[in-house]
Order: sequence, then C-alpha cells, then structure tokens
Amino acid sequence: MAAQGSRAVGVDIGGTGIKAGVVDLEAGQLVSDRMKVPTPTGAKPKDVLDAVEQVLDSLGVAGDTDIPLGVAFPAIVKNGRTLSAANVSEEWIGFEAEKFFEDGLGRDIHFANDADVAGIAELRYGAAKGVDGLVILTTLGTGIGSALIYDQVLVPNSELGHLQRAGHKRDAEGYAAYSAMEREELSWEKWAKRLQWYYDYVEFLFSPDLIIVGGGVSKHSDEFLHLLKLKAPIVPAVHRNNAGIIGAAALGLAVPEATSAVTE
Ligand code: BGC
Repeated sequence: MAAQGSRAVGVDIGGTGIKAGVVDLEAGQLVSDRMKVPTPTGAKPKDVLDAVEQVLDSLGVAGDTDIPLGVAFPAIVKNGRTLSAANVSEEWIGFEAEKFFEDGLGRDIHFANDADVAGIAELRYGAAKGVDGLVILTTLGTGIGSALIYDQVLVPNSELGHLQRAGHKRDAEGYAAYSAMEREELSWEKWAKRLQWYYDYVEFLFSPDLIIVGGGVSKHSDEFLHLLKLKAPIVPAVHRNNAGIIGAAALGLAVPEATSAVTE
C-alpha cells in the first residue's frame, strides 16, 4: 500500500450502484477491493447517505477522518449543491448535498459530478493525459454523463446526455445510454446505431479532438467501438468503470490546478 499521504477514498454514486475504493493518487490505481452496493430505490438523500456509510464501512474507512474523501454524484453540482435529478430523487434539486454528506459522515468531503470526476481521472492518469485541444469523455451507464476538457482544463457540468432528439420525447440518454440497450435488449449492432447518432451529433456541435468512452460498458468496448465511424478517435477510458472512484479520490486529496473549476 502507498503511504497514507498519497491515498484517498473515492465514492462514485451512480443511478444503479454505489462504488468505492481506496486509491493511490501517485499511481492513480485502486489499492483496495472495489466495494459496491446497489443505489437504494428512489435514491433519496437519506437512503443514499446510509448506503455510502455502508460502503465506507465495508472498506474499513468509516471512522477514518484523516484519509481524504471525494464523492461523485450523477447530477449538476455547483458550489456543493445538486441542481438536477435525472436518475435520482427530485429531492436533490437545489439540495445542499455536500453539507448533507459532511454533516452525516461527520467529516470534510469533496463533492462533484460523476462524469466530471471520471474526466479528472482520465486527465491525470489516463486517455486524456497530455492531449491538447478538446477531449470529450462520455460515460454510458444508467444515463449518459459528459466531461469537457479543453487544453487539459475541465469545463464542469456539461450535461451532454440531455441533448434532445428532434421530434422525439426521449433525450439522448433515454435513447442511447447503456440502460436503454439493456431495457430494450438491443444487440451491440442496434445499440451502436444509436451511439452513432449520438456521437455524430456531439461531433457536429463540438468538433472534439478525442472522444473517451467510460462507464461500466467500457470494459466491453471491443463489442461496439469498432462499429462507430467518427472523425475523431474514440477510445475506452483507461480506468474503465473505476474512473469515477479514482477521480473522486483525486478530488478528495487536493484540487489540482487544471481541475479547480469543478469544486469552486
Ligand atoms: C445526469 C448527469 C450525470 C449522468 C451520468 C445524467 O442523467 O444528468 O449529471 O453525469 O447522468 O450519471
């Protein structure tokens, strides 16, 4: 295990599961088991807090206030408040989430959007490291999350999962997230057609230099990335579904200059 000073805990709260681990921040690697509990039905604040306590307990760090802790959440996060609620309870809208977790856990934490922290992990330790220009990371899971990174600086809260499809009720994530593939039992080919629409649209709007795909399904990137024809290279997140845990932990310890905007 790395020295205490270079370790932090990351908790990644998703629409389906809450994942956590202890991370060595020099290597950008998990140095504990990856713990996971289901996100409580309805994902109300108190139930989510209880589940986070449970996952910290199973990691053996529940009472350890010396180890820094970062928490990632699937909503717009500004100044510690959650401002949206696509796959969680509406109670999170306009909620003092960071303070709620700090009071509940009895310690300081850092709190940010889940896709943004995955972007931080890939920026510091993965596929976006050293890449100039515009990198767009998307997480394909219960929803679609996005992180915009321009010249190594994260622009927080981009929310590109909610792009609208002209003439359709469902937004991009309702149509093309991994949960849509599971719900509708789509083949990789059929799902890839939806992703083609989505990434074409993102490319048209932003002309990125690199697209990174994160989220649980990124471990199966061999099944679908080669089916996509895009102008920019599209690659899986180096840290796959652990990018959220690693990025949350990285936020917990210190605020790197390049990513300071996310916690302001
Ligand atoms: C939320 C985003 C989040 C994404 C992935 C979307 O529904 O609006 O804030 O990053 O899901 O969890």
